[in-house]
Amino acid sequence: MTRTHAENVREDLRNLIHPYTPLNTFSATGPMVIRKGDGVYVEDDQGNRFLEGMAGLWCTALGFSEQRLVDAAIRQMKELPYYQIFAGRSNEPSIELSERLLAMTRHLGMDKALFANSGSEANDAAVKVIWYYFNALGKPEKKKLIARERGYHGVTVMAASLTGLPYNHADFDLPVARVLRTGCPSLYHSTHPGETDEQMVDRLVADLEALIAREGADTIAAFFAEPVQGAGGVIVPPAGYFAKIQAVLKKHDILMVADEVITGFGRTGNMFGCDTYGITPDIMTVAKALSSSYMPISATLVSKAIYDGLVKGSERNGAFSHGVTYAGHPVASAVAVEALKIYEERDSKTFDATSGVIARLGNAVLEHGLITRALRDTMAVCPPLIITEAQIDELFDKLTLALDTTLEFARGLKLAA
Ligand SMILES: Cc1ncc(COP(=O)(O)O)c(C=O)c1O
Repeated sequence: MTRTHAENVREDLRNLIHPYTPLNTFSATGPMVIRKGDGVYVEDDQGNRFLEGMAGLWCTALGFSEQRLVDAAIRQMKELPYYQIFAGRSNEPSIELSERLLAMTRHLGMDKALFANSGSEANDAAVKVIWYYFNALGKPEKKKLIARERGYHGVTVMAASLTGLPYNHADFDLPVARVLRTGCPSLYHSTHPGETDEQMVDRLVADLEALIAREGADTIAAFFAEPVQGAGGVIVPPAGYFAKIQAVLKKHDILMVADEVITGFGRTGNMFGCDTYGITPDIMTVAKALSSSYMPISATLVSKAIYDGLVKGSERNGAFSHGVTYAGHPVASAVAVEALKIYEERDSKTFDATSGVIARLGNAVLEHGLITRALRDTMAVCPPLIITEAQIDELFDKLTLALDTTLEFARGLKLAA
């Protein structure tokens, strides 16, 4: 019996190791094979269409058919498909990308960019940078890293060690030494009975203080955190969490590393999670939406103080001996440059609070039989907690109709910068 192409593909895919799949347990149907994508939709090899509600792995921010990214890749492929950035060499797209990235993060104190291909590598590089920095400063004891329960920082040896999920450690002989674990601010996983959000934050801060006192601040280099924890359960920090944590870190001269691999480039409503949660990082790592994941690329961004430390270390060692073959890859960089241009053009536009759009929405909601509260630039929804699932559907159906009615009015408005 001749096999169809789809069957052949499925058979071939049994030869791959699929991450996060129990090995050798594929069902008779094999893996789900996605064949194409358009906009926010993807289609499998059986012709089934899905709204991709995860943007892949939290990454394809511009959807699956952004022609400008495709064009940027083709242009660069024709011009210069590869060049390296080692030992005084460079290429134009990687230079432009670093300039753009630093212009976007200068208000957060970032001063230099180090490129790689994945979020894991960016975090690994952050660790190497930190260790090199403290050696250059003559503080070789200051090396331990604090990371949080349920944190996700990737899967390379060091990034997986920072990751606070037991299944990323089991039988991989991880975490390696020098990683200290502290609690995460999850209202779902971490609160104690009867505790308010504020009490939970204060308890986590006290735990952090105790950990630092136990280990000795002189032995601790940095604290790694995602502004919003993703793979650990989409944990949004409660108000005041980062301000209090950072006060402790500052007091003990411990660096703050913001892992913006998921939160970077608009995911939290601002360009970076650091903007949304008032984080002042010493190092930021970015990937995923950096190129809308059309090409693999990541960056470790560092402050001037850190960079100055690296310069000092490299003077001693003769060079800064770290880099990967595809760092600053011209095609990946060109695609990322185009993605950043698109974010800057389409992002950070809000309605002027006095434009009347929310008042108009308030009326439309009522017309559809729903009561909400129009605040200046926000529509508040807070139903009785006895609401059933079916009634939640009813609420959102009515709200959707009201939003549709208001859209025409909103389209005619000038957006505030
Ligand atoms: C916050 C965060 N950091 C790092 C990573 C690792 O990135 P990559 O899978 O590109 O190595 C991820 C991946 O999901 C992530 O969510």
